Amino acid sequence: MNYKVPRGTQDILPGQSEKWQKVEEIIRQLCQVYRYQEIRTPIFEQTELFQRSVGDTTDIVQKEMYTFKDRGDRSLTLRPEGTAAVVRSYVEHKMFGQPDQPVKLSYIGPMFRYERQQAGRYRQFVQFGVEAIGSKDPAIDAEVIALAMDVYETAGLKNLKLVINSLGDADVRAAHRDALIKHFEPHIGDFCSDCQNRLEKNPLRILDCKVDRENPLMATAPALTDYLNEESAAYFEAVKKYLDVLGITYVVDPNLVRGLDYYNHTTFEIMSTATDLGAITTLCGGGRYNGLVEQIGGPESPGIGFAMSIERLLLALEAEGRSLDTDNALDMYIVAMDDQAKLKAVELASSFRAKGISTELDYASRKVKAQMKSADRLGAKWVIVLGESELEEQAANVKNMELGSQEKVPFHDLVNYLTKHKVK
Ligand code: HAM
Repeated sequence: MNYKVPRGTQDILPGQSEKWQKVEEIIRQLCQVYRYQEIRTPIFEQTELFQRSVGDTTDIVQKEMYTFKDRGDRSLTLRPEGTAAVVRSYVEHKMFGQPDQPVKLSYIGPMFRYERQQAGRYRQFVQFGVEAIGSKDPAIDAEVIALAMDVYETAGLKNLKLVINSLGDADVRAAHRDALIKHFEPHIGDFCSDCQNRLEKNPLRILDCKVDRENPLMATAPALTDYLNEESAAYFEAVKKYLDVLGITYVVDPNLVRGLDYYNHTTFEIMSTATDLGAITTLCGGGRYNGLVEQIGGPESPGIGFAMSIERLLLALEAEGRSLDTDNALDMYIVAMDDQAKLKAVELASSFRAKGISTELDYASRKVKAQMKSADRLGAKWVIVLGESELEEQAANVKNMELGSQEKVPFHDLVNYLTKHKVK
């Protein structure tokens, strides 16, 4: 039997994992300066939570969830996204009672969707997301968008496009819904069976259909922006003004329909315009979800957030031909010539590591030459060779592999010497 990773999942191997760590470091730093504190919620939740929040008629709930019964016959679902759980936690822990609103939260963790696998689309993927809950100040919409852009820019991406839209409030959506039904109904027979179901349940989702994308009725469908009432339009204008102040360029796309039901007012996506990326170009998606907290049992607490997968960020970097500055340098390789020297090597390695000097040694009883080759392959900055004479003299030649120089240093002084010469 040949075992393989399950379809749509991947192993992140050494060489790649350093890039993940670097991205996570960028994210942690930016969350710290923007003040989005980390929240960790379970990997699975009650199925109903997602049905109610993400929406019964969405692809995620209808086709993509990993749902199972536990031994107590409860229906649980591996989380397909993070917002529902964060809002559940906000309500459950009564965070709405905290004096400083909005509560600004961030998360990084695996999400699960049963989707068709392709480059940039996995069944298990890692989302970084933020949620700012408890404010309907348009300035927070701009802040959330700015943070997402900052992550990409700090990681080195240049070919980015921010697309924004407003879905308006409940009244706007109702009026637009009626107009959509009127528009599609006479020709609904030409559409796929999913769209036929969507017509009554959630006609907005027709605009997001991948099967009927080319149908000419799509392009002529009534745009939500034409139905914005005064209040919604003013809110959208204010968000744009804040984005202008922040120097963030955007394109307004009235057809930007997000695939989850909880959105209203501001929605946005960040795309990569890199030509080598392939079919999937959306790196990040988010928006406002006023009403979701009430739906999950809390008091009125408007929210906004986004999520991006680390997988797509790394693919976009690759497509732009950019590499991250990963720090995985090896400081010291200790070559031991015999068993006696090996004892000393183990002792010295421990004292180096205690001072933060990364150290490697041979665990395969190889000859000196093979150990030296290892040191070279691993890119060690320094090498010391321990043999009989070094043990006798209680000193070793510290070879600087970059400069090709060497210096004799007594054992008791090695830690000091290396610490002093270790350049950051
Ligand atoms: P979403 O648009 O479903 O929104 O997903 C957000 C991001 O997650 C996508 O832009 C993409 O980077 C990544 N993503 C989604 N599915 C996959 C997949 N199969 N493989 C790889 N990456 C994927 C949400 O999940 C909302 N919870 C975002 C949000 C937070 N809105 C408000 N707050």
